[in-house]
Amino acid sequence: MERRRVAVLGGGTVGAELVRLLQRHPAAAAVELLGVLVRDAERERPFAGWRELVTTDPGFVQRADVVVEVLGGTGLAADLSLEALARGATVVTANKAALTERFDEYLPYLRAGRVHCEAAVMAGTPVVGPLTGALAGSRPLALHGVLNGTCNVVLARMDAGASYADALAEAQRLGYAEADPTLDVEGVDAAHKLTLLGRLAFDPALAWEGVRRATRGIARLAPAALAAERERGRRVRLVASLVLGAAGWEGRVRPVALPEGHPLLTDGATNALLFRGDPLGEVLLRGPGAGGGATASGVLGDLLACLRGEPGPRPPAAAAPLPDAPGADEPLDEVADGAAA
Ligand SMILES: NC(=O)c1ccc[n+]([C@@H]2O[C@H](COP(=O)([O-])OP(=O)(O)OC[C@H]3O[C@@H](n4cnc5c(N)ncnc54)[C@H](OP(=O)(O)O)[C@@H]3O)[C@@H](O)[C@H]2O)c1
Repeated sequence: MERRRVAVLGGGTVGAELVRLLQRHPAAAAVELLGVLVRDAERERPFAGWRELVTTDPGFVQRADVVVEVLGGTGLAADLSLEALARGATVVTANKAALTERFDEYLPYLRAGRVHCEAAVMAGTPVVGPLTGALAGSRPLALHGVLNGTCNVVLARMDAGASYADALAEAQRLGYAEADPTLDVEGVDAAHKLTLLGRLAFDPALAWEGVRRATRGIARLAPAALAAERERGRRVRLVASLVLGAAGWEGRVRPVALPEGHPLLTDGATNALLFRGDPLGEVLLRGPGAGGGATASGVLGDLLACLRGEPGPRPPAAAAPLPDAPGADEPLDEVADGAAA
């Protein structure tokens, strides 16, 4: 059997764990691992043969049949991925920032099924597959998600009495935070994920700028605002929603007060996604949404699908029809930064 040549871009939290998982997987026999692109080739990595595999020279990427991009950012990561796609390779990526902000460049390859991106949203918990597959048979009414592990860890720790700074440091220590954690706490990471899901499942023309403008994070939430909600039996979480707006599908990200027992109310890096569709009704997808192992699991799942010759998720040709009225959805209470009087 001819082995598939695989290049890994990034050997950090996700990339190192991905290589470790792959090396222990039976499918490793079907893969020739060409190399792992990093910034610092001297730093020890937790996988076998790291010294021979890591490199700072991206030249090896040109020989790959499959490029696994877990490097992050919207520059080099996307440039190398798009070059590989243009010469016929397949890409597996967990990079929602690049997919969202350079979506038009990725779109022809997404349409061709040559981009796999399950781990870009909710890590190894499957959401892209279900939304573009089994759930596509229902007309979408709304989508709400708790999609950022860092914000969830921070808010849950603050619920337990921690300061904002201590709670954020904890999320970074656990490997949940983006390289630049302001992307998490300002809501931009959740907005990237929401836009990607929206384009893959609701409307391929959903505008990133619109979602970005309607995004408010948790960085300025006063502890008193959280305490006031707790007294009302509610807890604050960062919720990303795709709903019927004045001009069509609209995405928004903001802190919301959820009553105890609400399906979106999760702790730690557990993420949750609530899909409402007609005629199916309400579906809840819930599971780990960040961290090296959880994300590498999803990336490896995509790589295995690639090795089997299966296509990635394809965006719809046109927007899903709009619901008749916003009443089909539940209202969610946005929380202001300061405590209400
Ligand atoms: N961490 C998570 O929980 C999670 C969850 C879902 C999706 N993701 C996505 O997965 C991707 C990777 O995240 P991560 O947490 O693994 O990030 P990370 O720990 O910061 O790792 C990034 C890796 O890329 C390498 N790199 C960065 N810039 C480079 C450059 N200019 N040239 C060469 N190598 C470069 C780094 O090299 P050095 O190691 O030498 O610095 C590092 O190995 C991101 O797109 C992120 O959004 C992460």
